[in-house]
Amino acid sequence: MVKTAILVSGGGTNLQSIIDANLFGEIKNCELTAVISSNPEAYAIERAQYAGIPVYIVDRSIFPNRQSFSKALLDKLIDLEIELVVCAGFKSILSHLLVKAFENRMINIHPSLIPAFCGPGFNGLRVHEAVLDYGVKVTGATAHFVTEVVDDGPIILQKAVEIYEDDTPQTLQRRVMEEAEWKILPEAISLFCQRRLVIEERIVRIMGSLDNES
Ligand code: GRF
Repeated sequence: MVKTAILVSGGGTNLQSIIDANLFGEIKNCELTAVISSNPEAYAIERAQYAGIPVYIVDRSIFPNRQSFSKALLDKLIDLEIELVVCAGFKSILSHLLVKAFENRMINIHPSLIPAFCGPGFNGLRVHEAVLDYGVKVTGATAHFVTEVVDDGPIILQKAVEIYEDDTPQTLQRRVMEEAEWKILPEAISLFCQRRLVIEERIVRIMGSLDNES
């Protein structure tokens, strides 16, 4: 079983999708070892406790900078012998040291089709506002490995979502979560834990057929 830590900062809907998929046996070979929150007030903490997953708080607000926060986080991940780290609605940018320590072992979910509408500043509702302002007809979500450049790592899975004429940033955010984020994030975790992801340069190859999933 791959010892996995989920990093959270907020409501934890992405975390919930992982907990549920794991409960239904849709994530193979994964142990949800820890949920680590950068925010002591995050509702994600309650979701983890309800699911019986150990919770740790590494409060971003008490650290003076990204480096010291990331070091504390890295110490906790090493302590827990974590193999896979998943950023699920996690709002902090991490240091070079931490990203390097978990190179090709840290997965993030981003609510657009990378390389569109991503990078520094594209988070939360701002992504969907930008999508609607631009007038694109489809958007979606991307599960990718984390590298030092924000939202730039090798892409594992993407799923497209249609945009409706009467969408608001809020309705679009919800549909992208329901139709894309909550599906491809658990799927990417399962593929990693089954050791089916092979990374060649920035291309991620998926071993075996996806048709037999779930
Ligand atoms: C949403 O903005 C979603 O698009 C993004 O994370 C936020 C959800 O956070 N990926 P959470 O998982 O409910 O904490």
